[in-house]
Formats: sequence, structure tokens, C-alpha cells
Amino acid sequence: MGLTGTKLGCGEGGCGACTVMVSYFDQNSKKCVHQAINACLAPLYSVEGMHVITVEGLGNRKFGLHPVQETLARNHGSQCGFCTPGFIMSMYALLRSNKTPPTEEQIEESLAGNLCRCTGYRPILDAFRVFSKTNDLLYTNNSVSSQKDCEFVCPSTGEPCSCGSKTVQKENVCHDYKPVSYNEIDGSSYTNKEIIFPPQLLMRKPSSLSLNGFNGIKWHRPLLLKHVLELKSRFPDAKLVVGNTEVGIETRLKKLHCPVFVSVTHVPELNILSSNENGIEIGAAVRLSELQKFLKKVIEERSCDDTSSCRAIVKQIKWFAGTQIRNVASVGGNICTASPISDLNPLWMASRAKFKIVDSNGNIRTVVAENFFLGYRKVDLKENEILYSVFLPWTRRFEHVKEFKQAHRREDDIALVNAGMRVFLEEKDQKWIVSDACIVYGGVAPVSLLTEKTRDYLIGKPWNKEMVENAMEILKQDVVISEDAPGGMVEFRKSLTLSFFFKFFLWVSHEMNGQDFFKETIPVSHLSAIESYNRPSVMGSQDYEITKQGTSVGSPEVHMSARLQVTGEAEYTDDTPMPPGGLHAAMILSKKPHARLLSIDDSGARSSPGFAGIFFAKDIPGDNATGPIVEDEQVFASDVVTCVGQVIGVVVADTHENAKLAARKVVIEYEVLPPILSIKDAVKSNSFFPNSNRLLGKGDVDLCFRSNECDKIIEGEVHVGGQEHFYLEPQSSFVWTMDGGNEVHLISSTQAPQKHQKYVAHVLGLPMSKVVCKVKRIGGGFGGKETRSAFFAAVAAVPAYILNHPVKLTLDRDIDMMISGQRHSFLGKYKVGFTNEGKVLGLDLELYNNGGNSLDLSQAILERAMYHSNNVYEIPNVRVTGSVCFTNYPSNTAFRGFGGPQGMLITENWIQRIAMEVKKSPEEIREMNFMGDGSILHYGQQIQDCTLQRLWEELKKSCNFLKIRSEVDEFNLHNRWRRRGIAMVPTKFGISFTTKFMNQAGALVQVYTDGTVLVTHGGVEMGQGLHTKVAQIAASAFEIPLSAVFISETSTDKVPNASPTAASASSDMYGAAVLDACNQIKTRMEPIASKKKHTSFEELVNACYFERIDLSAHGFHIVPDIGFDWTTGKGHPYRYFTYGAAFAEVEIDTLTGDFHTRSADVILDLGFSINPAIDVGQIEGAFVQGMGWVALEELKWGDDAHKWIQPGFLFTSGPGNYKIPSVNDVPFKFKVSLLKDAPNDKAIHSSKAVGEPPFFLASSVFFAIKDAIIAARAESGFHGWFPLDNPATPERIRMACADEFTAPFAKSDFRPKLSV
Ligand SMILES: Cc1cc2nc3c(=O)[nH]c(=O)nc-3n(C[C@H](O)[C@H](O)[C@H](O)COP(=O)(O)OP(=O)(O)OC[C@H]3O[C@@H](n4cnc5c(N)ncnc54)[C@H](O)[C@@H]3O)c2cc1C
Ligand code: FES
Ligand code: FES
Repeated sequence: MGLTGTKLGCGEGGCGACTVMVSYFDQNSKKCVHQAINACLAPLYSVEGMHVITVEGLGNRKFGLHPVQETLARNHGSQCGFCTPGFIMSMYALLRSNKTPPTEEQIEESLAGNLCRCTGYRPILDAFRVFSKTNDLLYTNNSVSSQKDCEFVCPSTGEPCSCGSKTVQKENVCHDYKPVSYNEIDGSSYTNKEIIFPPQLLMRKPSSLSLNGFNGIKWHRPLLLKHVLELKSRFPDAKLVVGNTEVGIETRLKKLHCPVFVSVTHVPELNILSSNENGIEIGAAVRLSELQKFLKKVIEERSCDDTSSCRAIVKQIKWFAGTQIRNVASVGGNICTASPISDLNPLWMASRAKFKIVDSNGNIRTVVAENFFLGYRKVDLKENEILYSVFLPWTRRFEHVKEFKQAHRREDDIALVNAGMRVFLEEKDQKWIVSDACIVYGGVAPVSLLTEKTRDYLIGKPWNKEMVENAMEILKQDVVISEDAPGGMVEFRKSLTLSFFFKFFLWVSHEMNGQDFFKETIPVSHLSAIESYNRPSVMGSQDYEITKQGTSVGSPEVHMSARLQVTGEAEYTDDTPMPPGGLHAAMILSKKPHARLLSIDDSGARSSPGFAGIFFAKDIPGDNATGPIVEDEQVFASDVVTCVGQVIGVVVADTHENAKLAARKVVIEYEVLPPILSIKDAVKSNSFFPNSNRLLGKGDVDLCFRSNECDKIIEGEVHVGGQEHFYLEPQSSFVWTMDGGNEVHLISSTQAPQKHQKYVAHVLGLPMSKVVCKVKRIGGGFGGKETRSAFFAAVAAVPAYILNHPVKLTLDRDIDMMISGQRHSFLGKYKVGFTNEGKVLGLDLELYNNGGNSLDLSQAILERAMYHSNNVYEIPNVRVTGSVCFTNYPSNTAFRGFGGPQGMLITENWIQRIAMEVKKSPEEIREMNFMGDGSILHYGQQIQDCTLQRLWEELKKSCNFLKIRSEVDEFNLHNRWRRRGIAMVPTKFGISFTTKFMNQAGALVQVYTDGTVLVTHGGVEMGQGLHTKVAQIAASAFEIPLSAVFISETSTDKVPNASPTAASASSDMYGAAVLDACNQIKTRMEPIASKKKHTSFEELVNACYFERIDLSAHGFHIVPDIGFDWTTGKGHPYRYFTYGAAFAEVEIDTLTGDFHTRSADVILDLGFSINPAIDVGQIEGAFVQGMGWVALEELKWGDDAHKWIQPGFLFTSGPGNYKIPSVNDVPFKFKVSLLKDAPNDKAIHSSKAVGEPPFFLASSVFFAIKDAIIAARAESGFHGWFPLDNPATPERIRMACADEFTAPFAKSDFRPKLSV
């Protein structure tokens, strides 16, 4: 259909990029229902009879933007734009489905299933906040209350329409959109009609379906239960399906084949939702969002005593997946999947629910929920039976039901451990006795686990502290998790079971408070342990001054592609239409981390449907060896494989699915060789890349340690975890030949088109002049598309060239995450000497990074970590050594910060430790050791124009550090199980590629006779706003408006030999190259311009044209005064430094490890910002991405620490298991400031680079967490230093908060396992 707006980011319901709105007419309520769903999990059959609106159904640039689109574009809510259509559709569906304007809370909740890796969410939330209509007049001239009877104002347009009205209006049209009064949104250009629900669908009676689908699948959609049962008896293996959120994952990711599906969405008997005097009847096909709505109503209507279970279920559903999943996922689907981490099953069991089961003869039997789950994903259903409904009884007076869930990420995440608990208390002899109880845990066994011994113990016991203590002892016997249990985190999971039970005790005691004879009062300081997490709406503030230079430089212009991105018109690599004969590629990947290839049998692939070709190392026309610096990597492994996921060959076929199917049929025999699966393994085996050892230093460290100058010397290890890029657009390359293979062209999602050109030419044996690579924009890169992307272009080029057919290779998310490399994990071993005051005198540091199986950029990344390993501190004696470890993992690669953050995080770890040793705050130690102008770094560069002290002082004032310190201490004094912590962290980030030759940039500027300017430069637009800033520079140079400048694409045939867009330096370099070109043209124009006969730029250009003046120029720029000599270890690797500082305040739940960031205050010195809005966006995005690195995102590899994962495999290979920050993780208060009046004479227009420097500042969140943990540990009597590795996930936080509930399972210095 050519609709490319809906994006595929993950294919597993975890990112929201594919969100669309479906509408249907509900025969029961006689209303149109509008819902956001994930297109990737919705089989086409499932939307039969429904109306689907994709982003193309809203506005577009020709006919005007819809207000939802307009506001997002204007508020800088779209950077790379790949997530944008998904956000637009989630918001649009919320507006269409709400009768009244949504609250800010509802808006945030509706975006829980949408991930964005660029913006940090704040601008998206701010953009959509307008629709909450806190003030009606903000949104529309008509206040909602002014509407006439029966006339409903559509919240998405502010105009009368039918979409939310109680009765369907005759006309069924939403009127043309008229301007909204929200002063920032000019909706006047939106002339489209709001798409209405098609009247023909209103009239349409649903019919039963029986369809044939792809791969021989049969899809039935009966309308009556008896037909479901008939089908079930005809096809005993048939799978019932409702939301397909489980089945979709099984068939897509787990490759389960099921020939017959029976969709039961339209079966009235299975959609019952009613209540009577005994309880609630819930049909198995009832969707979770429906159930949630229904229960909320019931809770309002009935007595509190009846609805304890209902309240627990409502609260649990709030944290169950995202809106898109809840809109389709069913109660029965969740129950029958019988996942051990199902969020609802423990609650059904605890709350005495009964399941009604019907067989193919119509016989009904009832099973109590606690007897229904028989084993891992095994339930008490016979082949001819299905789940009919759930009966949830009302609770009785003094019967209390409570839900618990701890996940990796609070929002849209599956549980690590969850629970449903119920207790029924009765008063006997002036004592409150447990009359009945049920404690069920998820995530601790192959099934939801009913703790029977505990129940036996509890019944008959008085509800008091002694009972809890004894019950915990029994719980430990009930919950047994073996050391190698799938999921790992054994100590944490066990601790959680006790923590949850303790919370339950506190909660019930609190609920019972005030009852006669109830004596179990809980101290006020314990109350916060049972408060539910309540999140205020995000409050962002940005503080910057505008230093306008010329027509555009300095203005907070909107991203030039924003309007294309919000409408879905922006094209990405995979959107390129496939020409006739085009083929799709899939790679054949190694399944062993280290092995010799013994044989390859490709016969299965060759006979697979749609097969067009298969290629291995022997087929490569040119050279199989590649690599950005050292050619130590084969495009197709020829003899030995050195990691899981290494590419062995490529298959092409007519469709993506067929190509993957064929690739799976290739059978490979291996001889397994011993792998190296951690840095420590590598160090032990001396497994380093040749010549990768490095040394930097100043002073004499040994002498310093020997002398008596140091009052204390400490030694330790810091383990720094890796990070997945999780750019929303996966790696993708599209290659085709021209003139029978004489030329090769490609479009790629890359930060380095020149590398693609070079790799492809090299692999095909062609001259570079015959290969052209183009990039219009990419959906995020963050370093992950600097070198690794070229590898995939080379893979796709081989079949394209040999077969002379266009070939597209787009990686599935799991493959992308598994094989395309990540941020390096690091090991730092430090020895630091310091005085009793805390002045650092000597640092001896060994750094190791995990390079993986090829060198890639690991050497330069190690070097940057070494350069940054003093962060901002003046240390007289330093020795830093570094080595790149060879391991049997996919090659790790660049990621925002390029080793700098790892180096600095290690520094701040030992700074924080010194603070504990000398009993001062880390902030005091930091200040005391600050460097300043004139300081000489350990690699010889002298510090100049240092703004660190200014930034620090301004930040201290802005966050009111001393006041907040005392407030936090006060809070901690009064809250035993919740702790707050704060931290202020500085940063200094060196700007330049540390490889000198890369600091060059080219540009091509063409001026046309209508006065418009086309700029092409070597940099790639990946969301960071590079093209916008560069265009602003050109606009100011010619003194024309920004709208007169256009940047179409990056192309190797326009600007040759460009360095990758990386190292934060692209605006500096390409801006300067463009300015150079503009100046050349201006110089040529000058003789005409000086006559001052023109009244406009267009006239001037025309005059020049007629005078035959060349209006095109190639600009060039090299960064001056840089260079470094590794033989002496001295030089000037950086042109200048970007400084910054950040403050963070967090709150942790010490019993579960849950945390949230209450506030973040970030300040950076960016000189005179070229575009402060874009710079703020970079800071917010980097900060939230950095929060992911320090506190959320954990990579779990099959290594010694994770024996339950196959060796060398990545467990966290999708959004299901790998959690990047979501909307819910944004700091409640998020302030970003740019230092004022601080010009930088070392870069264009006195600006400074911004992309990477703010990333590290998120470590303020990490150290604030540590500060909070210190307060928690003190309560248990632990006052000394303790290690905390990043990411500080709930597991690490909880286990570090050592107390009586962790003590049975781990010591106070326990260090949870981490793949490093
Ligand atoms: C992104 C994402 C996030 C998720 N988050 C969570 C979460 O936070 N918590 C959680 O617990 N789960 C979560 N899940 C799992 C899943 O969404 C739920 O289990 C969901 O309730 C399944 O419902 P469904 O209608 O989509 O099931 P389907 O996929 O349609 O069916 C699931 C299974 O149930 C069977 N089935 C369905 N109805 C019946 C019936 N009446 N009788 C017999 N068998 C039947 C089907 O045959 C199939 O085997 C998540 C899934 C995804 C993709
Ligand atoms: S692509 Fe559908 S949710 Fe990610
Ligand atoms: S703008 Fe959201 S992922 Fe790039």
C-alpha cells in the first residue's frame, strides 16, 4: 500500500513504533470503540470489520498537520523520528477514546508502551500536555461544558463529532478542523476532515470467518461458543487466540508452528462481564483494559469490604504491559499461558477465584484457581476443553487482598517476582486470628507458587510480629530457588519474597488499625513502605539565553525534518520501495561462541520457498577481510567462528520471511573450542588484541605511594556494565547494481556512508569511485551505526552484485541486539592515595575493556577512557594502563561517550569511596580536587578556559544543595523502608576525534537562481539536529531565512572521504566546512553585492548568475592544533573540552529495590549555542539514555555468571528483557540550563559540542542511589564502603540495602552477578 508511516521497531509489542488506532462498533454498548494497538502483533485477520487509522490518516504537510502532530513537532518532541508515528497514534487514540479531555496522568499512562531513545520524553510529554485541557481555553474556544445536549466535542479536534457521543449521530462527521486556541499550535492549515468511523461498518453485522493464510495457516473466527467447541473437536491442536500477544511471540520469536487458529474475540459467551451478589463473572476473552474499566466502576459502586480483590487486580493491571497490549490481551490468554511470571495468576489464586471450563460437548466443570496450574506452562485443560470464564468472589469484611510486583523497569515490564496475598482475619477472644490465608508468588518457580506450608502455619495464628517472624522462616522452606534457576538473581528473588510478605503484614496491620482489640500498630516511620508509588506529572524547565548571530544561528529552531516525521512522511532505509525483482536477505549465523566449522549443508535452504541464492566466504568476489582500523574480521566466517551470531553466509529470497526460513534450514556442524566469555577470563588467559596495551602518566606514582604523603591508600575494582544502543530503527541496508554490476549503489542506515562505500568496494573488488552510498536520515545511531553498519552493507552487497538484483537486509531486533555490538563493559582496578582531608595525591589505574571478537574501535575507546580517567580532578601522580581484551562475543563498538563515561564512572567510584573513608561528602571531595586553568592533564594537555567552577557554583545554587541535603536527611530519619539520596557530579569531555586525520570535514554548497541554497555535507542526520544547525549556519552566512536552505541527504558522490558522524564534533566540523563554502561563494559574489543594486538575495544571485559567477563551492575544514604521540604518551588530543555538572535526587524502596528520580538539574557550558532547543534536546536525551546505562539496562550474556543462558548467547535481546528508560522513568522535575555568557573561541560561532558530554552526567542518579543506600545500610549497622556496580537495577539496590530480609541469602557485601 506504500504506507510507510507505521514503523517496525521490535516486532514483539515492546516499543510502540508500530502503534495504529483500530475502531469498531461495539454492538453491546452501541458505541464506537477506538483503541491504540501494536500493529506488529495484530494478525491482519484480527482487524476484519474494523477501521484502522495509521499515522497517514491524520494530517500531512500538503493538507496541514493534525494538532497532535503540530504540537509534537513544535515542541521538539521528534528527533530521529522513528518512534514518532507511534507516539502520535497513541495520543490520537487516547483523545478519540476519551469522552472528556484526558488528565496528564492518563496521557503519561497512555504512552507507557512507546519507547523513544532520543528525546528523554520530556518534550513529548510537554507537547501532549496541552490536550489534558487543565484549562479548557488552552485547547479550544468552546469549553466542554458549553456543548449543547447530545453534542460531543471531539477532544482531538475541539469540534463536535460522534466519536465519543453516547448515541451515534446521523451525520457521523467530525467537522473540519478549525484553529485551536492553544497559542502555540497553528492548526489552521489542517484542512483535512477528521477521519470518521465508516458508516458502512456501523451497519455491518459481524460474520464468522474461515480464512487461509500464509504458510498453510487456517484462521477461524466463529461467532458462537458452540462453533468454537465444534472447531475444537474437529481440530484438537487448534490454538485459541484473542489478543495474540502471547501466540504472536511464540510464532514469531520462538518459531512455533500452529496450523489452525480459532479467534474467540467475537464470541459473546466468552465476553461476559457482570456482577451478582456473590462476585464477578469474567469471560475468558475479556480484554484487560475492559476488565480494568469494569472493576474501577465496581469499586466505586460497592462497599469497600467487597472489593479488596478488585482493587488489587486494578492496581496490578496498571503495571501490566502498556496500553496497546492491555487493549487486546485477554484474561483467558494470560491464564492459559500459565506463565510463571503472569501478573494476574497469583491474584486469581489468592483471591479464591474459580475457573469455569467447558468441553467440546458443552459440559462445564469448575476448578479453583489454585488447582489449575499444573506445571511450567501447563494447565488443567484437556485437549477438548477451553477456559470459559473466571468467577471472582467478593471479599468479606476483614479479608484483605494485596498485589505485589517488582520488575526491572516499573512500567511495561514483566515481573521478576510478583505476588498475590490474602488473609482473612477474625476476632476471637479479643485477638485477631488468621482464619484463612493464601500467599502466592510468581517468578520463583515454574508455576505461580502457592506457599502451602506457610498457609498451614498462618491459619489459627494471631496477627502479630511473632507470627510474621515465624512465617518468614517457613516461607524460606516454601520458596526454593536453585542456584542455576532460569532468570538468575536467586538471592534477590528470595529476598523479595520476604520483603513482600513483610509489606503485606504492614499493609494489613494498617488496614486493621482502629479495629477493636487490634493491637498491632505500625510505627509511623514504617508507613511509607506501604504507600503506593505515586507519580506527579513531569515538570521540565529549560533555562538558556539566545545569542542570535545573523538570521538564524542562535535561534531555537525546530528540527528541519520534524514536520515530515510527525506525519510519517519521513523515509528511512527500509521504506525505500523494493523494485521488481528485489530480494530480501537473511544471514546464516553461528550458534557457537568459539568453534571450527566442519561442514555446511545448505540443501534445505536451496529447496525452501522463494529461495534465490546462498553465498558463503568462497563466493566473495573481492576481499573477505574487513575492519575499520585493522582488517581482522571476515564478512563470512570461513573456517573458525569466534562468537555466537557471527555471520557465516547469506541467503536471499523473495520475501523477508522466506529468506529467514531458508537461513534457518542451513545445517552446520561445529567442532567446539573453548571460549573466553569475560574480561577476567581474558586477563587470566592473556587474551588481548595485539599491540593494544597503552600507558599514560605523570609524576611518580610509586614514589607517591612509598612516601608518607598519602595518609591513606585504597585499592578496589569497579565493574562497569555494557549497554545496547537500542536505536529505534534497526540496522538496514539496501543495495542495487547498475549497468550490469559496473556500478553499485546503496542506501543505508549508517553514521558513516563513506565506510559503507569502502567496505562494499573492498568486498566486491570494485574501485570506490564506482560505489555510491546515500543516507537521508537514520532512526538513531548513538555510535552503533558508526562501523558495524558497514558490515551489514557488505553482507547485502555480495548477493546484490553476484545476482544483479536489488537486495535489502534489515535486521530483526533480536538479531540486531545479538550481533551488532554494544557499549564496552570495563573492568577498572584502582589504587588511590590521598590525605586525611581527602586530597588525592596518586592514582594507579588498570583499565580493561571487553573488545569482543574483533578490534573494531575498541582501541580508540580504551584510549578515550584513559584520557578521561581523572574526570575533572587534579592529581599530581597518575599512571593509567589499558588493554583491549579479546573475548568470544560480537565485537563491541562505539556508543555515545566512546569510553569516556566508563573512565569517568570508575573515577567517581573511588572519589565516592574516599568520601566514605574520610567521612566527608563526595561533593566536598570533588570540589577539593577540581582542576582549573593551567592544570596539566596526565597526557600533557593544558586546561584553558575552564568553566567547571562556575558551573558547579551555579548548580549548587540552582538545586539548593545544602537545603535539600537537610531535607533528605530529615526524610531518611522518619522513613525506615524508603530512603532518599542526592548527588552532584561534574564532567569534562574532550572534543575531537583522537585520531588526528579524522578531524577533517567537507561540504558542498549550491546556490540556485531562486535564492534557495542546497547544502550537502559529510555528516549524517540521525536525530541530533545536525542538518538543522548546519542549515542555520548557511542561512546566517548568506543572511537569508532558514527556510531558504535545504539539506536533502548525505552522499559519498557529493562529499568524498567523510569521517563518520561521531565524537560530538560534527556540528563544529561540518558547520565550519559549510561556512567555508558559503564564504567562498560570498567572496565571488562580493563584486556584484558591493554595488548594492539588489533588494533581495534572489536578485543578487540572479545578477551573479548572469555575470557567470560560480555559485557552487566545496568547503573544507580541519581542526587545528591537535595531535597526540602514543610513544611519548603526551600531546594535545582535544581541541577543547565541554564541561557540565548535574544534580539528582532519588528515592528508593529499600525492601524491593524500586527507585525513582525525584529531580534532576543539569547544567552545561555550550558556549553560544547554535540552536539552544536542539541542544536542550540532546542534553535531556543523553541524560535519560545515561540513566538507562547507570540504573536500568543490563545485558545478560551466557557466561560464568549466568549459567542458565547458553554460552555466548545474549538473553536480553529485545525490549521484553532489555529495559531502556520509558516515560515513567523521567525525573519528576527535570531542569536543564545552559551556562550564560561563555563564548568558546575554539569552535564555530563560539559554540560547543553537545552530543556526548551530558551522557555521563546521569551518573548523578547512580550516586544519588548510592547515597540513599548508604542511609539504608546505616540503619542495619553497616557503615563502611561497599561496591555497587552499574546498572543499579532493583536487584543491586535491594541487595545493597542489606537488612534482616536479605541476611538469610547474602552477606552485606554481596555483589550481584554482572556480565563484564
Ligand atoms: C509487550 C508485552 C508485554 C507483556 N506484559 C505482561 C505483563 O506485564 N504481565 C503479564 O502477566 N503478561 C504480560 N504479557 C504476556 C501477555 O500479554 C499476556 O499473557 C496476555 O494476557 C495474553 O493474552 P492474549 O489474549 O494476547 O493471549 P493469546 O496470545 O491470544 O493467547 C495466549 C494463550 O492462551 C490460550 N487461550 C486463550 N484463550 C483461551 C481460552 N479461552 N481457553 C483456552 N486457551 C486459551 C491460547 O491458545 C494461547 O495458547 C506481555 C506480553 C507482551 C507481548
Ligand atoms: S514494532 Fe510493534 S511494538 Fe515494536
Ligand atoms: S525520536 Fe524517539 S527514538 Fe528517535
